[in-house]
Amino acid sequence: MQVTWNEIKQHIASCTQCPLSRTRQKPVMGRGSDHAELMLIAEAPGGEEDVQGIPFVGRSGEILDDLLRDCGLRREELYITNILKCHPPGNRDPKEEEKIACFPYLKYETFLLKPKIIVCLGRVAAQRIISQDFKITRQHGTWTYRKNYALTATYHPSAILRDRSKYETVKQDFYEIVKKKDELSGN
Ligand code: URA
Repeated sequence: MQVTWNEIKQHIASCTQCPLSRTRQKPVMGRGSDHAELMLIAEAPGGEEDVQGIPFVGRSGEILDDLLRDCGLRREELYITNILKCHPPGNRDPKEEEKIACFPYLKYETFLLKPKIIVCLGRVAAQRIISQDFKITRQHGTWTYRKNYALTATYHPSAILRDRSKYETVKQDFYEIVKKKDELSGN
C-alpha cells in the first residue's frame, strides 16, 4: 500500500464518496501522534467536531480528556479517529453504506500508524471492528488478538454523559489498557 499521511488527509478533505459530504461542515480526520502505540476509534464526529474539524472537541471530548488524565495518558501520545470522517446529521447512527464508503480511510490510518493496541469507543465501532454481534455491556474490557495488534472496547464517552456511574467502569477499562500497553512495550 503506497500512501502517505498527507495523501489521506487530502483525500478526506475533498471526499464525496457518500451523501454526508453534502451536509458536513468540515471532515474530521484522526489526530494525534503518527507513531502512537494506542489508537482510539469512535463512531463519527459530533456537532462541535463538525464545526472545528477535530475529533473529540465537544462534551464527549471533555469526558475523554478526564479519563485520559486519570490514567496518566495524554492525547499527544495517542491517535484518535472515527469510523466516519463526516458528521451524521442529528448525531444519528452511521448508515451501513456510509461505513463502507469511509472504511478505506480507517484502513490507511491503521496501516500507516501500526498501533499495538486498538480501543473501540462504543458499540458502533466495536461491532464494525471486533465482531458484528459485540455486546458492549457484556464484553467491554475483553481482549481480542489480531496478527499485529490487541483489540478491546469500552463505552463511548457519550454513554458517561447519559449515565455518570459508567465513568468508573470506563476508567477501569482504561487502566487495563495502560497495563496492556506497558506489557506490550516491555515496560
Ligand atoms: N463522538 C464521536 O464518536 N467522535 C467524535 O469525534 C466526537 C464525538
